Amino acid sequence: MTRLNAPEYVRHQGLIDWVGSIAALTRPDRIEWADGSQAEYDRLCNALVEGGTMKRLNPAKRPNSFLALSDPSDVARVEDRTFICSEHEADAGPTNNWMAPAEMRKTLNGLFEGCMRGRTMYVVPFSMGPLGSPIAQIGIELTDSPYVVINMKLMTRMGRAVYDVLGTQGEYVPAVHSVGKPLAAGEKDATWPCNATKYIVHYPETREIWSYGSGYGGNALLGKKCFALRIASNMGRQQAEQDGLGWLAEHMLILGVTSPEGVKRHVAAAFPSACGKTNFAMLIPPKGFEGWKVTTIGDDIAWIKPRPDPKTGELRLYAINPEAGYFGVAPGTNEKTNPNCMASLRENVIFTNVALTDDGDVWWEGMSPAPDHLIDWQGKDWTPADAATRKAAHPNARFTVAATQNPVIDPQWDDPAGVPIDAFIFGGRRSTTVPLVTEARDWVEGVYMAATMGSETTAAAAGQQGVVRRDPFAMLPFCGYNMSDYFNHWLKLGEQLKGKGAKLPGIFCVNWFRTDENGKFVWPGFGENMRVLQWMLARVEGKADAKGAEHVFGVTPRYEDLHWRGADFSKAAYEQITSIDMAAWKHELGLHEELFQKLSQRLPAQLRSVKDRLEARLAG
Ligand code: GTP
Ligand code: SPV
Ligand code: MN
Repeated sequence: MTRLNAPEYVRHQGLIDWVGSIAALTRPDRIEWADGSQAEYDRLCNALVEGGTMKRLNPAKRPNSFLALSDPSDVARVEDRTFICSEHEADAGPTNNWMAPAEMRKTLNGLFEGCMRGRTMYVVPFSMGPLGSPIAQIGIELTDSPYVVINMKLMTRMGRAVYDVLGTQGEYVPAVHSVGKPLAAGEKDATWPCNATKYIVHYPETREIWSYGSGYGGNALLGKKCFALRIASNMGRQQAEQDGLGWLAEHMLILGVTSPEGVKRHVAAAFPSACGKTNFAMLIPPKGFEGWKVTTIGDDIAWIKPRPDPKTGELRLYAINPEAGYFGVAPGTNEKTNPNCMASLRENVIFTNVALTDDGDVWWEGMSPAPDHLIDWQGKDWTPADAATRKAAHPNARFTVAATQNPVIDPQWDDPAGVPIDAFIFGGRRSTTVPLVTEARDWVEGVYMAATMGSETTAAAAGQQGVVRRDPFAMLPFCGYNMSDYFNHWLKLGEQLKGKGAKLPGIFCVNWFRTDENGKFVWPGFGENMRVLQWMLARVEGKADAKGAEHVFGVTPRYEDLHWRGADFSKAAYEQITSIDMAAWKHELGLHEELFQKLSQRLPAQLRSVKDRLEARLAG
């Protein structure tokens, strides 16, 4: 029995043996058991500064904060290199890349063989969800990237206490990560080691994650998309086979809204990557909404489970944020669009791929007027004259920060009980066609809306930007199983809850991104989104003054149905972002059809029926 220098508090021999087997494969020079302490964080940060991966920012401007510049080839998630390796291809479904597990294991064994030579392998224990709570899940990430270790410390509950929960036999999701750049003896390391060959692999049946070749974001911080969405979505659906309900792992922010009367509601909202979740989760109500308050439970991922309300016994959906930090988009964030976010970023932040100012602080597009000189995200000189040809910060530049730094963090943000969800919101980035807000008439219609949602692609994933694609539930890159089965899981859950007398959350579809003839956003967005949020909540509450006009696709408020106190937004502009162009919608339904064709094998019949109904209305 080997201990591999594991600290005495690691009492799980199965885990130690697994670490040993991965070390035998990857051949690191050293194994380091991360304990999650501040001393360890500081030591790794210093080492990363020493090695040139990070720069310490000016402590007077941005205390205890760092800037990392990645390799220009490693700046975003790689969806075409992401695989769901279920035993059967049909279980991964037509929207996921698939390879037979045995074949993938052969490929990966070849790549991982000796891939950590010359490096340290860190053993990173983490909990998704509050440590030790019944809804939390434990993962162990083995990584050869110290940058990943420090990010995991901010993004998850990482460290020694995880081993107390694990004990000698506890279950964990094993996650292996390598940048794929072994070092020969004496070889100087790259400041951002990575490999042109990349694989982000999930084995849903054995609940394993293997990631090779990238050090960036969701590719490398394996607790996030890989575990909390792709593996967890599998867990939630499998649970339904046991208890008839199961649970949901969603690409959703969770926020609380308190009215001036002190009534608190909670909503969960799914917007695709870089489409406004962090902004919406930290919203500051605008002029005219004095006394309203929005608080953040989570900004990216929600785990949602049905259970009885402790007071009334009524079944409800409760949501928790499995993460403990934000890995958010920097560009576009400023004191006007998101002051709470700016306040969160005052200290203790890891910035990646933003620009460096001459006084040792950070800058990105949309933060403030550009300074006269910067070092851009590729380490080159940049002046405002360059603005026309290249960005100073990469469009997917991000910050990593602990959730506790958010000034409007919800008091219940880490309550293992979660918060009861009153409404689900789905929203894509659409310059045309989709109105500002639409209420679904029932659960099935809501699921249809979410399932057929389209959005323009963003810099959060490598590949072409600004192309409209179907992004069902904002989960296209994150659903760890067959998308049709996923729709079915949502439909069944709704049916079951209704059958048990539960009041289901309302479902709404929003679009902040309609543009005018000059390509400019018509809707001011950000804090102003409160006007739409307030209408949605009033609809859920069945308030008499929350009116709307029913159209083919659902219910949309007329201009006079929203509160415009303190606003300067004309009725004409409102028409521009709520008008329904029948020709555009006929085309849109053609795109729904394309999706349904693709997913036809297991597509739930109810969704077809909704589509038939919409088409009949559109024709009539
Ligand atoms: P991921 O972390 O990638 O999952 O994304 P996210 O959904 O959290 O994205 P985020 O909130 O960081 O939004 C990123 C982009 O959306 C930035 O460019 C913002 O300026 C823009 N954005 C957010 N909210 C609004 C809005 O209400 N209106 C407009 N026009 N843009 C918005
Ligand atoms: C997203 O792309 O939806 C993100 C960023 O939240 S990453 O963690 O890189 O996936
Ligand atoms: Mn995301």
